Amino acid sequence: MYIKSIKIKDFRNYEVLDLEFNEKVNIILGSNAQGKTNLMEAIYISSIGRSFRTSKDTDMIRFGQDALKDKMSFSKDDRDLDIEIIISKDHKKTVKVDGVRIKKTSQLLDNVYIVIFSPDDLKIVKDEPEKRRRFIDKELCQIKPSYYSDLLDYKKVLLERNTYLKEINVDPDMMDVWDRQLAKYGASLMIKRNEFIDKISLISKDIHQGITNNKEILSLKYDSNIKFVDDMKSLEDNFYEILKRSFDNDIKMRTTTRGPHKDDIEFFIENEDNKINVRNFGSQGQQRTAALSLKLAEIDIIKKETGEDPILLLDDVLSELDLERQEFLIKTLSYNQLFITTAEMHQKILSEFPDATVYEVVKGKVEKQL
Ligand SMILES: Nc1ncnc2c1ncn2[C@@H]1O[C@H](COP(=O)(O)OP(=O)(O)OP(=O)(O)O)[C@@H](O)[C@H]1O
Ligand SMILES: [Mg+2]
Repeated sequence: MYIKSIKIKDFRNYEVLDLEFNEKVNIILGSNAQGKTNLMEAIYISSIGRSFRTSKDTDMIRFGQDALKDKMSFSKDDRDLDIEIIISKDHKKTVKVDGVRIKKTSQLLDNVYIVIFSPDDLKIVKDEPEKRRRFIDKELCQIKPSYYSDLLDYKKVLLERNTYLKEINVDPDMMDVWDRQLAKYGASLMIKRNEFIDKISLISKDIHQGITNNKEILSLKYDSNIKFVDDMKSLEDNFYEILKRSFDNDIKMRTTTRGPHKDDIEFFIENEDNKINVRNFGSQGQQRTAALSLKLAEIDIIKKETGEDPILLLDDVLSELDLERQEFLIKTLSYNQLFITTAEMHQKILSEFPDATVYEVVKGKVEKQL
């Protein structure tokens, strides 16, 4: 599957844009603030109906305008597929697939697999735990629909429990109703998270060995907030017990202090000298390389689950890596279609893509370079 063309109107700093793409590799050059990331965002929203950098759809409407339009034509299994998104200021959003309106943007997920890789992804090891939880949730929601429903249920019960904890008189019997539900949904989340982290740990280990010429062994470990046991019933019991024991503290803090909403992932690197926790003791380069390995493993997993290479958007990541890692990345990536944005590209990297189409973005206008 690949994107044939895009037509946009009043999207971010683009007034109008009508562009055809190369079915394999598209290189988009431009200085800062010209519209590179905006174009990646316009492409990305056709895959899940949402942006990767804002939760407010209306942010994407060009300043001073009432609505944006974003229409993309795909070629999928030798058929054409059109996805059109219209977002207006009054928060109305219309999504059409081949001209037919769809009710839920989650239906888009069946059509198009797009993965975006941006400099923020390289910070995941160093970032706060919330970012790592979001990563696990995003991945698992894409590949395991039952995870998505457990997550929604867990969040709903958590919110109810937290709201109740803010009341003046808290009745322990009432709490018990929420505790039981939280333990049930929470245990299911934890089992799936653990399984996923084990899986992605193995894949990223291999990738990491490649990048570091076998000098480092990367491993990921599920850092569960509840003592983890790989058995649903015992885990549910553990969590339930902990909720009971932290009751007094929860009342004091007026929130649920324990549970998978506090989970984390730990990264370790082992070399011939020692084994370190990368978040606390890794160098910046090691943290980035671990993150790069994780991202490449993510792409690999999506491919295994969907049976198809994704359309891959590399937004400004090349400039974050040294030439050696850039070359490794370029050689390792597997994709159906690739979009790379960058302020400048090293000749050595450019020569890896002899058939690419190169574009230049200046102030929301894109020109194909000859
Ligand atoms: N809703 C909007 N309406 C109009 N312009 C916008 C809107 N949102 C953002 N912009 C502008 O779009 C411009 C380009 O942003 P973009 O993030 O695409 O830049 P970029 O080319 O990726 O730059 P960098 O290399 O710094 O990442 C910015 O100057 C920004 O202020
Ligand atoms: Mg950018």
